[in-house]
Amino acid sequence: MAAVGGGARLPAVPDWPWSQGDEGPARLLEAARLATLGRLVPAVAHQLATPLASIALRAESLEGDLHGPGGAVPGDKLERYLRAISAETLRCKELLANLRVFARAPDPAFGKVDVNALCRGAAALVLHEGMRRQIEVQLDLDEAVPVIRGCEGRLGQAVLSLLVNGLDASPAKGRVVLETRVDRPGEVAVTVIDEGPGVSDDVRLRLFETVFSTQPPGRGLGLGLVACRLIAEQHKGSIECTTGHGRGGRFVFRIPSGSGQGGAG
Ligand SMILES: Nc1ncnc2c1ncn2[C@@H]1O[C@H](COP(=O)(O)OP(=O)(O)OP(=O)(O)O)[C@@H](O)[C@H]1O
Ligand SMILES: [Mg+2]
Repeated sequence: MAAVGGGARLPAVPDWPWSQGDEGPARLLEAARLATLGRLVPAVAHQLATPLASIALRAESLEGDLHGPGGAVPGDKLERYLRAISAETLRCKELLANLRVFARAPDPAFGKVDVNALCRGAAALVLHEGMRRQIEVQLDLDEAVPVIRGCEGRLGQAVLSLLVNGLDASPAKGRVVLETRVDRPGEVAVTVIDEGPGVSDDVRLRLFETVFSTQPPGRGLGLGLVACRLIAEQHKGSIECTTGHGRGGRFVFRIPSGSGQGGAG
């Protein structure tokens, strides 16, 4: 199989129906990435709408003061409102900058990846979807996690996909925890833990199959975990589900901290 754009070689997808030739795995990854983003866009749009509405209201109020009977903004209102407008604008800017990291087509070349920063960004992106469903998204990051080598876009996609699965599995008022650890030398572990029903033995056997999903139609394509598996293998890492039925979800994504030097390609 040919290398994909200078990154590490993508593994084959045995059960992917369109995997004839080298493009199958890359197409699957793209389909999975776009599907996950599509799931998050409404929540992100909502997350932007709140500060934008506040900016518009404050600007209108200041305009009303200027064109009103006094012809001026009273007291310290101008300063307070401008400060609030600037803080809200910054919120929007940060959210959009974060969205750009996850929305742009990944550069397949391996580079330095700050796993904790990636996890913070992914958590920020799903925060509103969590709030909407009354699910708390919590970070538990080990600051000792080293910067690793890998494809930032694909690793971000994997973390995002595991987080969305955690949210999908969680009951309202539940909690999804995103954890980073160096629990084995030379390896970084990213774990997503949820308080959902966990995984039955039947489902566990099929978790990483292409287009296997227990989500209702229109909600899941069954591409998230097979994409995570491809991304893990591309980084010479692994992914496993370390829970059983009735114990909540727990998925561990492991990446060698020196992975991908030069790619395998
Ligand atoms: N945290 C979890 N708890 C319980 N079951 C899970 C969890 N994560 C995944 N699963 C099970 O594995 C199946 C496959 O997951 P996968 O992410 O591949 O697809 P999906 O979430 O159904 O759809 P997609 O990710 O393509 O939107 C899910 O439908 C679900 O049955
Ligand atoms: Mg999924």
